[in-house]
Amino acid sequence: MKKNVIRPLIQKLNPYVPGEQINLPGLIRLNTNEPPYAPAPEVLARIKDSVDARLRRYPNPTSDEVREKLASIHGCKKENILVGNGSDEVLELAVRVFVEPISPSINDNSASTVQYFDPSYSLYPVLADIAGALKNPVPLLSDFGIPITEQLKLEGKWDFNAALTFVTTPNAPTGRGYTTRELETLCANQNGIILLDEAYANFAEENAMSLALKFPNVLVARTFSKAYALCFQRIGYVVGPENLISSLHKIRGSYNVNGLAQVAASASLDYLNYYQKNFEYIKKIRAKTSEWLSSKGFYVNPSQTNFIFVKPPNILTAENWYKAYHKKNVLVRWWRYPNVKDYLRISIGSEEEMIEFRKRTLDIFKENGILNL
Ligand SMILES: Cc1ncc(COP(=O)(O)O)c(C=O)c1O
Repeated sequence: MKKNVIRPLIQKLNPYVPGEQINLPGLIRLNTNEPPYAPAPEVLARIKDSVDARLRRYPNPTSDEVREKLASIHGCKKENILVGNGSDEVLELAVRVFVEPISPSINDNSASTVQYFDPSYSLYPVLADIAGALKNPVPLLSDFGIPITEQLKLEGKWDFNAALTFVTTPNAPTGRGYTTRELETLCANQNGIILLDEAYANFAEENAMSLALKFPNVLVARTFSKAYALCFQRIGYVVGPENLISSLHKIRGSYNVNGLAQVAASASLDYLNYYQKNFEYIKKIRAKTSEWLSSKGFYVNPSQTNFIFVKPPNILTAENWYKAYHKKNVLVRWWRYPNVKDYLRISIGSEEEMIEFRKRTLDIFKENGILNL
């Protein structure tokens, strides 16, 4: 075999790093924003009922049943929707459809640019690298707000012509929410495609789905992973103008969404009340946990998601808090990047898990000499 069979671009690629997936008794997993509630019992029953000889058949190639139900929920046509193997697939398809790889024959840098705010979802730069595209990370404000358009224009770093701009809204990993109004202003000023990544929108006060049906260059992506407790099934979708959606359909895998995932997603949409109650449950525990952590000296960034982004008290660095939690069998997320290295991202678990989380937090305080809490 000849040497160097791997493309240089792939050889030097830093891949996406998912949160650790460990299963141990007593372990509290608060590191991947998985919901603490199960899918609705009827959804589980529908999945189980589908496991029979029909598994030998190919699934519906275009996830029609799911798209029809989503279309009626979002007030659009099924032609405005593509369903993907998780919303990660949708994001990847968008890069492949809208962004030109860098090449000597293209002298328009914007055509090759994937743009996103920093910090935001750490998959975006990886997708740009895989595509051989340029990356334009633009810093958020110090409170993780989006700079107003005038400021973006003034500072000159933002590319209003970037081929594809990802906006995580509400933001991850910070949990910060953005108003539809501010997103609308951003979209109205953007010439390239904007994909609003609404993975956590069900835990927020507002969402910007209406913008996908208003602007010719706006897409909104959602996932069934978090809100509908279907991480295991891998299913997400994107809504937007028909011509953009049909281009995404052109390049997706022929049967990109497996049959059981389609059954699960379709069933979930029949039991929205069950999930709505769980969104309220998460918000309640989020408020309780935030209040408790604040009373113990953590800075808790206001959250509109199913996780919180906190600056722990400086008896330990955030990295050492992360390690201390790990020793206590609590998984949280910490990143070494300069702008987030002082923070931990903590998913909201069940009430019982968060009580145990608080106990283990107090143990860490005690082990570091803080006894009077
Ligand atoms: C902001 C954001 N977008 C998209 C995703 C991907 O979700 P999915 O499980 O649908 O691929 C995640 C998952 O963590 C996320 O945090």
